[in-house]
Amino acid sequence: MTAPTISSQQVSDMMDELERYGQAHVLGFWDRLTHAEQVSLFAQLSSISLPELAALAVQQQTAVDYASLAARASSPPAVQADGRGAAWQVSEAVVRGQQALSAGQVACLIVAGGQGTRLGFDKPKGMFPIGPVSGRTLFQLFADRLIAIGQRYGKRIPVYLMTSPATHDQTVQYWEEHDWLGLDPQQVRIFCQGTMPAVDCETGKILMTSPAEIALSPDGHGGALGALRRSGCLDDAAGRGIRYLSYGQVDNPLTQLCEPSLLGHHIFSGSEMTTQVVRKRHPTEKVGNVVLADGRVQIIEYSDLPEDAARRTDDQGNLVLWAGNIAVHVFDIQFLQSMAHQAEALPFHRAIKAVPYVDADGQLRVPDKPNAIKFERFIFDLLPHAEHAFVVEGKREQVFAPVKNADDADADTPRLAKQAIVLLARDLLSTAGVAVAEGVQVEIQPQFALDVAETREKLSGVDLISSDRYFSV
Ligand code: UD1
Repeated sequence: MTAPTISSQQVSDMMDELERYGQAHVLGFWDRLTHAEQVSLFAQLSSISLPELAALAVQQQTAVDYASLAARASSPPAVQADGRGAAWQVSEAVVRGQQALSAGQVACLIVAGGQGTRLGFDKPKGMFPIGPVSGRTLFQLFADRLIAIGQRYGKRIPVYLMTSPATHDQTVQYWEEHDWLGLDPQQVRIFCQGTMPAVDCETGKILMTSPAEIALSPDGHGGALGALRRSGCLDDAAGRGIRYLSYGQVDNPLTQLCEPSLLGHHIFSGSEMTTQVVRKRHPTEKVGNVVLADGRVQIIEYSDLPEDAARRTDDQGNLVLWAGNIAVHVFDIQFLQSMAHQAEALPFHRAIKAVPYVDADGQLRVPDKPNAIKFERFIFDLLPHAEHAFVVEGKREQVFAPVKNADDADADTPRLAKQAIVLLARDLLSTAGVAVAEGVQVEIQPQFALDVAETREKLSGVDLISSDRYFSV
Protein backbone atom coordinates (compact mmCIF):
# COMPACT_ATOMS: atom_id res chain seq x y z
CA MET A 1 0.00 0.00 0.00
CA THR A 2 1.44 3.41 -0.91
CA ALA A 3 1.60 6.03 1.81
CA PRO A 4 -0.94 8.84 1.32
CA THR A 5 0.63 12.05 0.08
CA ILE A 6 -0.42 15.66 0.38
CA SER A 7 0.54 18.01 -2.40
CA SER A 8 2.08 21.41 -1.67
CA GLN A 9 -0.99 22.92 -3.33
CA GLN A 10 -3.26 21.19 -0.82
CA VAL A 11 -1.15 22.49 2.05
CA SER A 12 -1.17 26.00 0.64
CA ASP A 13 -4.96 25.92 0.15
CA MET A 14 -5.39 24.68 3.69
CA MET A 15 -3.13 27.48 4.96
CA ASP A 16 -5.19 30.13 3.10
CA GLU A 17 -8.38 28.77 4.59
CA LEU A 18 -6.89 28.66 8.09
CA GLU A 19 -5.60 32.23 7.76
CA ARG A 20 -9.02 33.42 6.65
CA TYR A 21 -10.43 32.11 9.94
CA GLY A 22 -7.53 33.18 12.18
CA GLN A 23 -6.43 29.57 12.80
CA ALA A 24 -3.10 29.44 10.94
CA HIS A 25 -1.24 28.63 14.18
CA VAL A 26 -2.29 24.98 13.84
CA LEU A 27 0.24 24.58 11.03
CA GLY A 28 2.93 26.37 13.08
CA PHE A 29 4.94 23.17 13.55
CA TRP A 30 4.32 21.72 10.08
CA ASP A 31 7.94 21.71 8.89
CA ARG A 32 9.05 19.85 12.01
CA LEU A 33 6.53 17.03 11.63
CA THR A 34 7.25 13.63 10.14
CA HIS A 35 5.41 12.73 6.95
CA ALA A 36 3.02 10.48 8.86
CA GLU A 37 2.29 13.28 11.34
CA GLN A 38 1.63 15.71 8.49
CA VAL A 39 -0.81 13.28 6.90
CA SER A 40 -2.57 12.79 10.21
CA LEU A 41 -2.80 16.51 11.01
CA PHE A 42 -4.06 17.26 7.50
CA ALA A 43 -6.79 14.66 7.93
CA GLN A 44 -7.80 16.11 11.30
CA LEU A 45 -8.02 19.60 9.83
CA SER A 46 -10.00 18.39 6.85
CA SER A 47 -12.67 17.07 9.21
CA ILE A 48 -13.24 20.52 10.73
CA SER A 49 -15.71 23.01 9.30
CA LEU A 50 -13.92 26.30 9.93
CA PRO A 51 -16.90 28.55 9.09
CA GLU A 52 -19.09 26.56 11.51
CA LEU A 53 -16.43 26.74 14.22
CA ALA A 54 -16.00 30.49 13.73
CA ALA A 55 -19.74 31.01 14.13
CA LEU A 56 -19.84 28.83 17.25
CA ALA A 57 -16.85 30.42 18.93
CA VAL A 58 -18.33 33.91 18.87
CA GLN A 59 -21.79 32.80 19.93
CA GLN A 60 -22.23 33.53 23.64
CA GLN A 61 -24.40 30.49 24.44
CA THR A 62 -26.80 28.35 22.51
CA ALA A 63 -29.58 30.64 21.30
CA VAL A 64 -32.02 29.31 23.91
CA ASP A 65 -32.76 31.40 27.00
CA TYR A 66 -33.32 28.52 29.41
CA ALA A 67 -34.38 30.72 32.34
CA SER A 68 -37.33 32.12 30.44
CA LEU A 69 -38.08 28.74 28.86
CA ALA A 70 -38.16 27.21 32.35
CA ALA A 71 -40.45 29.98 33.62
CA ARG A 72 -43.09 29.14 31.01
CA ALA A 73 -42.58 25.37 31.16
CA SER A 74 -45.21 22.98 32.50
CA SER A 75 -45.43 19.23 33.11
CA PRO A 76 -45.20 17.22 29.90
CA PRO A 77 -48.04 15.02 28.58
CA ALA A 78 -47.25 11.64 30.08
CA VAL A 79 -48.45 8.18 30.89
CA GLN A 80 -47.74 7.75 34.56
CA ALA A 81 -46.23 4.63 36.07
CA ASP A 82 -49.69 3.47 37.20
CA GLY A 83 -51.07 3.82 33.66
CA ARG A 84 -52.96 7.10 34.17
CA GLY A 85 -52.71 9.69 31.42
CA ALA A 86 -53.26 7.45 28.42
CA ALA A 87 -56.42 6.73 26.46
CA TRP A 88 -55.43 3.06 26.32
CA GLN A 89 -54.57 0.42 28.91
CA VAL A 90 -50.96 -0.48 29.73
CA SER A 91 -51.85 -4.11 28.88
CA GLU A 92 -52.90 -2.97 25.39
CA ALA A 93 -49.61 -1.10 25.00
CA VAL A 94 -47.71 -4.25 25.97
CA VAL A 95 -49.51 -6.28 23.30
CA ARG A 96 -48.90 -3.59 20.67
CA GLY A 97 -45.18 -3.44 21.54
CA GLN A 98 -44.95 -7.22 21.39
CA GLN A 99 -46.49 -7.17 17.93
CA ALA A 100 -43.83 -4.73 16.73
CA LEU A 101 -41.11 -6.94 18.20
CA SER A 102 -42.55 -10.12 16.66
CA ALA A 103 -42.80 -8.37 13.32
CA GLY A 104 -39.06 -7.56 13.46
CA GLN A 105 -39.74 -3.81 13.40
CA VAL A 106 -37.54 -2.88 16.36
CA ALA A 107 -33.79 -2.21 16.54
CA CYS A 108 -31.73 -0.58 19.24
CA LEU A 109 -29.08 2.10 19.56
CA ILE A 110 -26.67 2.18 22.49
CA VAL A 111 -24.48 5.25 22.89
CA ALA A 112 -21.09 4.43 24.33
CA GLY A 113 -18.81 7.20 23.16
CA GLY A 114 -18.23 8.90 26.50
CA GLN A 115 -15.09 8.30 28.52
CA GLY A 116 -15.54 7.13 32.08
CA THR A 117 -13.57 10.07 33.47
CA ARG A 118 -15.82 10.66 36.50
CA LEU A 119 -15.90 6.92 37.15
CA GLY A 120 -12.12 6.72 37.11
CA PHE A 121 -12.16 3.78 34.68
CA ASP A 122 -9.61 3.90 31.89
CA LYS A 123 -11.38 1.60 29.41
CA PRO A 124 -14.64 2.17 27.54
CA LYS A 125 -17.39 2.35 30.17
CA GLY A 126 -19.23 -0.58 28.58
CA MET A 127 -16.37 -2.81 29.74
CA PHE A 128 -16.99 -1.93 33.38
CA PRO A 129 -17.92 -5.02 35.45
CA ILE A 130 -21.29 -4.30 37.08
CA GLY A 131 -23.05 -7.66 37.59
CA PRO A 132 -23.23 -7.90 41.41
CA VAL A 133 -22.80 -11.68 41.43
CA SER A 134 -21.80 -12.49 37.84
CA GLY A 135 -19.24 -9.70 37.45
CA ARG A 136 -20.58 -9.23 33.91
CA THR A 137 -19.84 -5.97 32.17
CA LEU A 138 -22.28 -3.28 31.13
CA PHE A 139 -21.90 -4.42 27.50
CA GLN A 140 -22.69 -8.01 28.52
CA LEU A 141 -25.79 -6.96 30.45
CA PHE A 142 -27.09 -5.10 27.39
CA ALA A 143 -26.32 -8.04 25.09
CA ASP A 144 -27.96 -10.52 27.50
CA ARG A 145 -31.20 -8.56 27.47
CA LEU A 146 -31.20 -8.26 23.69
CA ILE A 147 -30.58 -12.00 23.27
CA ALA A 148 -33.47 -12.75 25.63
CA ILE A 149 -35.84 -10.35 23.87
CA GLY A 150 -34.80 -11.74 20.49
CA GLN A 151 -35.46 -15.30 21.63
CA ARG A 152 -38.82 -14.45 23.10
CA TYR A 153 -40.10 -12.70 19.97
CA GLY A 154 -38.35 -14.90 17.45
CA LYS A 155 -36.46 -12.03 15.81
CA ARG A 156 -32.85 -10.95 16.12
CA ILE A 157 -32.77 -7.34 17.28
CA PRO A 158 -30.33 -5.28 15.20
CA VAL A 159 -27.90 -3.50 17.53
CA TYR A 160 -26.28 -0.20 16.58
CA LEU A 161 -23.52 0.66 19.01
CA MET A 162 -21.99 4.13 18.90
CA THR A 163 -18.42 4.65 20.02
CA SER A 164 -16.08 7.64 19.82
CA PRO A 165 -12.46 7.76 18.64
CA ALA A 166 -11.48 7.35 22.31
CA THR A 167 -13.49 4.15 22.80
CA HIS A 168 -13.82 2.65 19.31
CA ASP A 169 -10.85 0.31 18.91
CA GLN A 170 -11.03 -1.16 22.40
CA THR A 171 -14.79 -1.63 22.06
CA VAL A 172 -14.50 -3.45 18.73
CA GLN A 173 -11.70 -5.62 20.08
CA TYR A 174 -13.73 -6.45 23.18
CA TRP A 175 -16.82 -7.49 21.20
CA GLU A 176 -14.73 -9.53 18.76
CA GLU A 177 -12.74 -11.28 21.48
CA HIS A 178 -15.94 -12.12 23.37
CA ASP A 179 -17.71 -13.64 20.36
CA TRP A 180 -20.06 -10.70 19.99
CA LEU A 181 -21.30 -11.39 23.52
CA GLY A 182 -23.52 -14.17 22.23
CA LEU A 183 -25.21 -12.05 19.56
CA ASP A 184 -24.97 -12.87 15.87
CA PRO A 185 -22.21 -10.63 14.42
CA GLN A 186 -24.59 -9.90 11.53
CA GLN A 187 -26.91 -8.17 13.94
CA VAL A 188 -24.31 -5.81 15.45
CA ARG A 189 -22.94 -2.63 13.85
CA ILE A 190 -20.35 -0.67 15.81
CA PHE A 191 -19.89 2.82 14.41
CA CYS A 192 -17.88 5.82 15.50
CA GLN A 193 -19.25 9.29 16.21
CA GLY A 194 -17.64 12.51 15.00
CA THR A 195 -15.46 14.98 16.84
CA MET A 196 -15.26 18.71 17.41
CA PRO A 197 -12.17 20.77 18.21
CA ALA A 198 -11.85 22.52 21.55
CA VAL A 199 -11.08 26.22 21.30
CA ASP A 200 -9.46 28.68 23.68
CA CYS A 201 -12.30 30.43 25.52
CA GLU A 202 -10.65 33.86 25.31
CA THR A 203 -9.47 33.85 21.69
CA GLY A 204 -11.53 31.18 19.93
CA LYS A 205 -8.28 29.63 18.63
CA ILE A 206 -8.20 25.87 18.08
CA LEU A 207 -6.20 24.11 20.81
CA MET A 208 -3.59 21.47 20.03
CA THR A 209 -2.58 18.67 22.36
CA SER A 210 0.72 18.15 20.52
CA PRO A 211 2.34 19.78 17.47
CA ALA A 212 0.58 17.23 15.27
CA GLU A 213 -2.69 16.85 17.13
CA ILE A 214 -5.77 18.99 17.40
CA ALA A 215 -7.61 18.85 20.75
CA LEU A 216 -10.58 16.95 19.39
CA SER A 217 -13.37 15.56 21.53
CA PRO A 218 -16.54 13.60 20.76
CA ASP A 219 -19.34 15.76 19.38
CA GLY A 220 -21.87 14.64 22.02
CA HIS A 221 -24.45 11.86 21.91
CA GLY A 222 -26.37 14.09 19.51
CA GLY A 223 -23.56 13.24 17.10
CA ALA A 224 -25.40 9.91 16.77
CA LEU A 225 -27.81 11.48 14.29
CA GLY A 226 -25.15 12.32 11.72
CA ALA A 227 -23.03 9.26 12.52
CA LEU A 228 -25.98 6.89 12.01
CA ARG A 229 -26.46 8.36 8.56
CA ARG A 230 -22.77 8.53 7.57
CA SER A 231 -22.11 4.97 8.72
CA GLY A 232 -25.03 3.63 6.69
CA CYS A 233 -26.79 2.37 9.83
CA LEU A 234 -30.00 4.28 9.09
CA ASP A 235 -30.18 2.73 5.62
CA ASP A 236 -29.30 -0.64 7.11
CA ALA A 237 -32.21 -0.32 9.57
CA ALA A 238 -34.63 0.77 6.86
CA GLY A 239 -33.45 -2.13 4.67
CA ARG A 240 -34.24 -4.57 7.48
CA GLY A 241 -37.77 -3.20 7.78
CA ILE A 242 -37.09 -1.49 11.09
CA ARG A 243 -39.68 1.11 12.12
CA TYR A 244 -38.73 1.86 15.71
CA LEU A 245 -35.36 2.47 17.31
CA SER A 246 -35.02 1.85 21.03
CA TYR A 247 -32.28 4.09 22.47
CA GLY A 248 -30.24 3.86 25.67
CA GLN A 249 -27.00 4.99 27.29
CA VAL A 250 -24.38 2.39 28.12
CA ASP A 251 -24.03 3.79 31.64
CA ASN A 252 -27.41 2.55 32.92
CA PRO A 253 -27.50 -1.22 33.58
CA LEU A 254 -31.27 -1.11 34.21
CA THR A 255 -32.03 0.29 30.74
CA GLN A 256 -35.00 -1.64 29.41
CA LEU A 257 -34.13 -1.64 25.73
CA CYS A 258 -36.95 -2.82 23.46
CA GLU A 259 -39.43 -2.85 26.33
CA PRO A 260 -42.88 -3.77 24.92
CA SER A 261 -45.03 -1.34 26.91
CA LEU A 262 -42.77 1.63 26.11
CA LEU A 263 -42.90 0.67 22.43
CA GLY A 264 -46.67 0.27 22.61
CA HIS A 265 -47.15 3.69 24.26
CA HIS A 266 -44.97 5.19 21.55
CA ILE A 267 -47.03 3.59 18.79
CA PHE A 268 -50.47 4.32 20.28
CA SER A 269 -49.61 7.95 20.97
CA GLY A 270 -48.58 8.51 17.34
CA SER A 271 -45.33 9.94 18.65
CA GLU A 272 -42.19 10.40 16.56
CA MET A 273 -40.01 10.41 19.67
CA THR A 274 -40.99 9.06 23.07
CA THR A 275 -38.94 9.40 26.19
CA GLN A 276 -39.04 7.41 29.40
CA VAL A 277 -38.68 9.43 32.60
CA VAL A 278 -38.59 8.92 36.33
CA ARG A 279 -40.11 11.14 39.00
CA LYS A 280 -37.29 13.31 40.36
CA ARG A 281 -36.18 12.55 43.90
CA HIS A 282 -35.91 16.24 44.72
CA PRO A 283 -36.33 19.48 42.76
CA THR A 284 -32.66 19.98 41.97
CA GLU A 285 -31.68 16.39 41.26
CA LYS A 286 -28.93 16.28 38.63
CA VAL A 287 -30.98 14.97 35.77
CA GLY A 288 -32.40 16.64 32.69
CA ASN A 289 -35.96 17.97 33.10
CA VAL A 290 -38.52 16.83 30.56
CA VAL A 291 -41.02 19.67 30.18
CA LEU A 292 -43.71 21.06 27.91
CA ALA A 293 -42.92 24.57 26.71
CA ASP A 294 -44.23 26.50 23.72
CA GLY A 295 -46.36 23.48 22.82
CA ARG A 296 -43.32 21.20 22.49
CA VAL A 297 -41.83 18.52 24.70
CA GLN A 298 -38.23 19.45 25.46
CA ILE A 299 -35.46 18.83 27.96
CA ILE A 300 -33.85 21.45 30.13
CA GLU A 301 -30.59 20.19 31.60
CA TYR A 302 -30.32 20.56 35.41
CA SER A 303 -27.41 22.92 34.98
CA ASP A 304 -29.62 25.26 32.92
CA LEU A 305 -32.62 25.13 35.25
CA PRO A 306 -32.97 28.06 37.68
CA GLU A 307 -33.72 26.92 41.23
CA ASP A 308 -37.03 28.80 41.52
CA ALA A 309 -38.30 27.03 38.40
CA ALA A 310 -37.05 23.69 39.74
CA ARG A 311 -38.99 24.23 42.99
CA ARG A 312 -42.29 25.34 41.42
CA THR A 313 -45.28 23.29 42.66
CA ASP A 314 -48.91 23.00 41.56
CA ASP A 315 -52.08 23.53 43.66
CA GLN A 316 -51.61 20.13 45.29
CA GLY A 317 -48.00 20.81 46.19
CA ASN A 318 -46.58 18.49 43.49
CA LEU A 319 -43.46 19.47 41.54
CA VAL A 320 -44.39 20.95 38.17
CA LEU A 321 -41.09 19.90 36.61
CA TRP A 322 -41.18 16.38 38.01
CA ALA A 323 -40.03 14.37 34.99
CA GLY A 324 -36.36 13.39 35.13
CA ASN A 325 -34.58 12.41 31.92
CA ILE A 326 -33.05 8.92 32.05
CA ALA A 327 -32.02 9.06 28.38
CA VAL A 328 -34.17 6.14 27.28
CA HIS A 329 -36.02 7.01 24.10
CA VAL A 330 -37.94 5.43 21.23
CA PHE A 331 -37.59 6.98 17.78
CA ASP A 332 -39.53 6.45 14.60
CA ILE A 333 -36.92 5.57 11.98
CA GLN A 334 -38.69 7.84 9.50
CA PHE A 335 -38.34 10.77 11.88
CA LEU A 336 -34.60 10.08 12.28
CA GLN A 337 -34.19 9.79 8.53
CA SER A 338 -35.84 13.13 7.91
CA MET A 339 -33.89 14.85 10.71
CA ALA A 340 -30.57 13.32 9.66
CA HIS A 341 -30.80 15.19 6.40
CA GLN A 342 -31.03 18.51 8.20
CA ALA A 343 -27.48 18.72 9.44
CA GLU A 344 -28.20 21.82 11.51
CA ALA A 345 -31.16 20.28 13.30
CA LEU A 346 -29.29 19.90 16.55
CA PRO A 347 -27.60 22.92 18.09
CA PHE A 348 -24.18 22.73 19.72
CA HIS A 349 -24.02 23.25 23.48
CA ARG A 350 -20.88 24.76 24.96
CA ALA A 351 -19.03 23.33 27.95
CA ILE A 352 -16.17 25.24 29.54
CA LYS A 353 -13.47 22.71 30.48
CA ALA A 354 -9.75 22.52 31.36
CA VAL A 355 -7.98 21.18 28.27
CA PRO A 356 -4.18 20.66 28.13
CA TYR A 357 -2.63 22.36 25.10
CA VAL A 358 0.71 23.14 23.48
CA ASP A 359 1.79 26.76 23.42
CA ALA A 360 3.48 28.59 20.52
CA ASP A 361 6.82 27.04 21.54
CA GLY A 362 5.44 23.54 21.39
CA GLN A 363 5.43 23.17 25.21
CA LEU A 364 2.57 21.25 26.78
CA ARG A 365 0.61 23.38 29.25
CA VAL A 366 -1.76 21.82 31.77
CA PRO A 367 -4.21 24.52 32.89
CA ASP A 368 -5.35 24.57 36.51
CA LYS A 369 -8.64 26.20 35.57
CA PRO A 370 -11.06 25.91 32.63
CA ASN A 371 -9.48 27.42 29.53
CA ALA A 372 -11.42 25.90 26.66
CA ILE A 373 -14.82 25.61 25.06
CA LYS A 374 -15.96 22.14 23.98
CA PHE A 375 -18.95 21.74 21.68
CA GLU A 376 -21.48 18.94 22.01
CA ARG A 377 -24.79 18.04 20.45
CA PHE A 378 -27.51 16.42 22.58
CA ILE A 379 -29.80 13.77 21.10
CA PHE A 380 -32.71 15.00 23.18
CA ASP A 381 -32.72 18.29 21.27
CA LEU A 382 -34.62 16.27 18.67
CA LEU A 383 -37.68 16.27 20.96
CA PRO A 384 -38.96 19.75 20.07
CA HIS A 385 -38.59 18.86 16.39
CA ALA A 386 -41.05 16.01 16.76
CA GLU A 387 -44.55 16.87 15.56
CA HIS A 388 -45.77 14.51 18.30
CA ALA A 389 -43.62 13.57 21.26
CA PHE A 390 -44.68 11.56 24.27
CA VAL A 391 -43.46 10.83 27.78
CA VAL A 392 -43.76 7.59 29.73
CA GLU A 393 -43.02 7.38 33.42
CA GLY A 394 -41.04 4.37 34.59
CA LYS A 395 -40.47 3.23 38.16
CA ARG A 396 -36.99 4.33 39.10
CA GLU A 397 -36.11 1.08 40.84
CA GLN A 398 -36.89 -0.80 37.62
CA VAL A 399 -35.33 1.46 35.02
CA PHE A 400 -32.61 3.76 36.33
CA ALA A 401 -29.39 3.16 38.25
CA PRO A 402 -26.68 4.95 36.27
CA VAL A 403 -22.99 4.35 36.74
CA LYS A 404 -21.38 7.78 36.57
CA ASN A 405 -19.18 8.30 39.63
CA ALA A 406 -16.63 6.32 41.58
CA ASP A 407 -17.85 4.54 44.72
CA ASP A 408 -16.84 7.33 47.09
CA ALA A 409 -19.55 9.63 45.65
CA ASP A 410 -23.08 9.91 47.09
CA ALA A 411 -25.00 9.13 43.92
CA ASP A 412 -24.83 7.21 40.65
CA THR A 413 -22.06 4.83 41.74
CA PRO A 414 -21.32 1.20 40.83
CA ARG A 415 -22.14 0.21 44.42
CA LEU A 416 -25.65 1.69 44.15
CA ALA A 417 -26.20 0.23 40.68
CA LYS A 418 -25.25 -3.26 41.93
CA GLN A 419 -27.65 -2.83 44.86
CA ALA A 420 -30.39 -1.86 42.42
CA ILE A 421 -29.74 -4.95 40.26
CA VAL A 422 -29.94 -7.19 43.33
CA LEU A 423 -33.13 -5.52 44.61
CA LEU A 424 -34.80 -5.98 41.25
CA ALA A 425 -33.87 -9.68 41.18
CA ARG A 426 -35.05 -10.15 44.78
CA ASP A 427 -38.34 -8.51 43.88
CA LEU A 428 -38.80 -10.72 40.82
CA LEU A 429 -38.02 -13.83 42.86
CA SER A 430 -40.31 -12.95 45.74
CA THR A 431 -43.19 -12.09 43.37
CA ALA A 432 -42.60 -15.50 41.80
CA GLY A 433 -42.92 -17.07 45.26
CA VAL A 434 -39.21 -17.65 45.94
CA ALA A 435 -37.94 -16.13 49.20
CA VAL A 436 -34.39 -14.77 49.39
CA ALA A 437 -32.63 -14.79 52.74
CA GLU A 438 -31.56 -11.49 54.27
CA GLY A 439 -28.27 -10.16 52.91
CA VAL A 440 -28.11 -12.67 50.03
CA GLN A 441 -27.04 -11.31 46.64
CA VAL A 442 -29.02 -12.53 43.67
CA GLU A 443 -28.82 -11.72 39.97
CA ILE A 444 -30.88 -13.08 37.08
CA GLN A 445 -29.62 -13.33 33.54
CA PRO A 446 -32.43 -12.20 31.21
CA GLN A 447 -32.03 -15.41 29.13
CA PHE A 448 -32.84 -17.36 32.33
CA ALA A 449 -35.98 -15.34 33.05
CA LEU A 450 -37.25 -12.01 31.77
CA ASP A 451 -40.29 -11.78 34.01
CA VAL A 452 -42.23 -13.25 36.92
CA ALA A 453 -43.91 -15.99 34.89
CA GLU A 454 -40.59 -17.29 33.52
CA THR A 455 -39.00 -17.08 36.97
CA ARG A 456 -41.85 -19.09 38.47
CA GLU A 457 -41.58 -21.70 35.74
CA LYS A 458 -37.78 -22.08 36.01
CA LEU A 459 -37.74 -22.21 39.80
CA SER A 460 -40.82 -24.28 40.50
CA GLY A 461 -40.28 -26.21 43.70
CA VAL A 462 -37.67 -23.74 45.02
CA ASP A 463 -38.87 -21.88 48.13
CA LEU A 464 -35.78 -20.22 49.48
CA ILE A 465 -32.45 -18.93 48.21
CA SER A 466 -30.03 -18.88 51.09
CA SER A 467 -26.68 -18.08 49.45
CA ASP A 468 -25.51 -15.74 46.70
CA ARG A 469 -26.72 -16.93 43.29
CA TYR A 470 -26.46 -15.95 39.66
CA PHE A 471 -29.33 -17.53 37.76
CA SER A 472 -28.04 -18.02 34.24
CA VAL A 473 -28.50 -20.30 31.25
C1 UD1 B 1 -27.13 12.64 30.78
C2 UD1 B 1 -28.21 13.68 30.39
C3 UD1 B 1 -29.10 13.99 31.57
C4 UD1 B 1 -29.71 12.70 32.12
C5 UD1 B 1 -28.60 11.70 32.45
C6 UD1 B 1 -29.21 10.35 32.82
C7 UD1 B 1 -27.02 15.01 28.77
C8 UD1 B 1 -26.47 16.32 28.40
N1 UD1 B 1 -27.54 14.89 29.97
O1 UD1 B 1 -26.28 13.28 31.71
O2 UD1 B 1 -30.17 14.85 31.17
O3 UD1 B 1 -30.49 13.00 33.26
O4 UD1 B 1 -27.74 11.48 31.32
O5 UD1 B 1 -28.23 9.44 33.11
O6 UD1 B 1 -27.03 14.09 28.01
N2 UD1 B 1 -21.97 9.90 25.11
C9 UD1 B 1 -21.53 9.56 23.85
N3 UD1 B 1 -20.83 10.49 23.16
C10 UD1 B 1 -20.57 11.73 23.64
C11 UD1 B 1 -21.01 12.06 24.93
C12 UD1 B 1 -21.72 11.12 25.65
O7 UD1 B 1 -21.76 8.46 23.37
O8 UD1 B 1 -19.94 12.54 22.92
C13 UD1 B 1 -22.71 8.89 25.87
C14 UD1 B 1 -21.93 8.38 27.07
O9 UD1 B 1 -21.18 7.23 26.73
C15 UD1 B 1 -23.02 8.08 28.06
C16 UD1 B 1 -24.13 9.05 27.70
O10 UD1 B 1 -23.88 9.50 26.40
O11 UD1 B 1 -23.50 6.77 27.86
C17 UD1 B 1 -24.34 10.19 28.70
O12 UD1 B 1 -23.31 11.07 28.63
P1 UD1 B 1 -22.89 12.03 29.82
O13 UD1 B 1 -22.18 13.18 29.21
O14 UD1 B 1 -22.19 11.26 30.86
O15 UD1 B 1 -24.30 12.56 30.37
P2 UD1 B 1 -24.69 12.99 31.82
O16 UD1 B 1 -24.05 14.28 32.15
O17 UD1 B 1 -24.48 11.90 32.76
